[in-house]
Amino acid sequence: MSDIYDKVIELAKRRGFVWPSAEVYGAVAGFIDYGPLGAMMKRRIEAIWRHYYVIREGYYEIECPTVGTESIYVASGHVKGFADKMCQCPHCNEYFRADHLAEACGIHNAGILSKEDLAKAVAPARCPACDEVFGDVEVFDFNLMFQTTIGPGSQRRGYLRPETAQGMFTDFSRLSRFYRMKLPFGAVQIGKSYRNEISPRQGMIRLREFTQAEAEIFVNPSEKNHPNFSRYADYTVDLWGIEQEQKDLPAIKKTMRQAVDEGIIANEYIAYYLALTHELLVTIGIDPARMRFRQHLPDERAHYAIDCWDAEVLSDRFGWVETVGIADRTDYDLRAHSKESGDSMTVFVPFAEARKEKRLRIVADMGTLGPKYRGKAKKIADALAEAAPGPDGADVVVDGETYHIPGDLYTVSEEEVEVRGVEVRPHVIEPSYGIDRMIYGVLEHAYDEEMVEGEERRVMHFAPCVAPVQVAVFPLVNKDGLDSVAREIAIDLQDGGILADYDDNGAIGRRYRRQDEIGTPFAVTIDYETKEKGTVTLRDRDSMEQVRLPIADVHATLMSLVSGRTRFADLKQA
Ligand code: GLY
Repeated sequence: MSDIYDKVIELAKRRGFVWPSAEVYGAVAGFIDYGPLGAMMKRRIEAIWRHYYVIREGYYEIECPTVGTESIYVASGHVKGFADKMCQCPHCNEYFRADHLAEACGIHNAGILSKEDLAKAVAPARCPACDEVFGDVEVFDFNLMFQTTIGPGSQRRGYLRPETAQGMFTDFSRLSRFYRMKLPFGAVQIGKSYRNEISPRQGMIRLREFTQAEAEIFVNPSEKNHPNFSRYADYTVDLWGIEQEQKDLPAIKKTMRQAVDEGIIANEYIAYYLALTHELLVTIGIDPARMRFRQHLPDERAHYAIDCWDAEVLSDRFGWVETVGIADRTDYDLRAHSKESGDSMTVFVPFAEARKEKRLRIVADMGTLGPKYRGKAKKIADALAEAAPGPDGADVVVDGETYHIPGDLYTVSEEEVEVRGVEVRPHVIEPSYGIDRMIYGVLEHAYDEEMVEGEERRVMHFAPCVAPVQVAVFPLVNKDGLDSVAREIAIDLQDGGILADYDDNGAIGRRYRRQDEIGTPFAVTIDYETKEKGTVTLRDRDSMEQVRLPIADVHATLMSLVSGRTRFADLKQA
């Protein structure tokens, strides 16, 4: 099937899934609107995500502002380093991402090249906009954050968040109290993030405003074994690890247990979320044969990560598309926010039994400290009592200022103390999902066209759990009271929480085709037998087969089919 991208997008626009935003004003690249069916499908996919992460994993959802103050993004490193390398065509002045141009010239993984190397790679290429050879170009950094000001007077700089993750980090202390200081714990957020992409030309794949679903899981650095690892220990996924990528080998199949034991995946947490992600993506309708997990190469990894895997989904137009990232972010973020904010961002982890430990204690000589530091002397003495003596004195921080206290202003005594536990700065495991990319993958993998009785049938094979309309209700003909029975059934289903679409317009075959095209998985048809026997037909979109069932069973049967507890084939056997 050729041009699948064009066909999917044409269908998505025409039938109300997704279209360019504000088309009446000429639509700006990188912004989309979800139409009536797309918005519903998005909610369903987000609900499935919540089922996995909030209900099953127990990581509560929080909701933070999309505008953040400057300090957040100074601490996180985004102000300094969240940039793509860009160049401008010297002939037509169009801007491009330099690594994308270099990759179009056949360079693999150009994102890791320096600005100088990118400039060399781009020089002989032709500008995609004006077709002139670039020649000498300068490659420079372009920060991807949208900047704004908070309040009047432009005094306070703010940024639209480039990831939802930072909300979970800045809320760390409150979250740790909510979870009663017990590691591991996690929090999640689903919401909009913003990146001012240089020249987004990939439709839903590269958006300037997009929806992320992120979980930040705070774990004890010395306990990176997931408490429920056995759930996925035998689960197998396709892994395209560093070795396979570097040697250009195919992906390998491993169980999660093997992948951790053989050192391919860094720890059980990462492996657990790889498997969970695989299961979740298959549940929403991603074809497992068009999915793999790619490990980031060491020089490609974000500065904070010690291991990172992308769930990649194969697209006919775009090739392998990074759709989910699963990273071990270490303590990078909490350390950075601790430094910037002064909050310790640690959790007290008690020992199983209190220990006696010898420690050196600094006792300030107030006779000399007092006159020298006056009003601050008491605070310095208290801070010294908690500090460790160095070879030429001790450093303490009082009221945000660091004081170096020479050794002759204190004495050091050895004492035995009871230690009940230790302050730990957790490491963060982060599964980060791009909801819009998941939706594009679902649309593309669901799309099909086939010949049925000499006519083309376009069908979206959506999983029933994500299909926007769950059932169509048709009277066979619009007379003899069939229509009123059908309306009653539709209302009953709607009252019972099922999105049922009543349609009595046109020939029944046409009505089936309209629903097939939007992926409605089931159709209930009311015919003359309904009046006689109180039964209806239930049609399955994919097999186009039908079963008869009593009206009284329709709601429960559909609930079971939509949730995936029952398959249509099971009904036929019953
Ligand atoms: N939080 C990871 C990312 O946005 O890429």
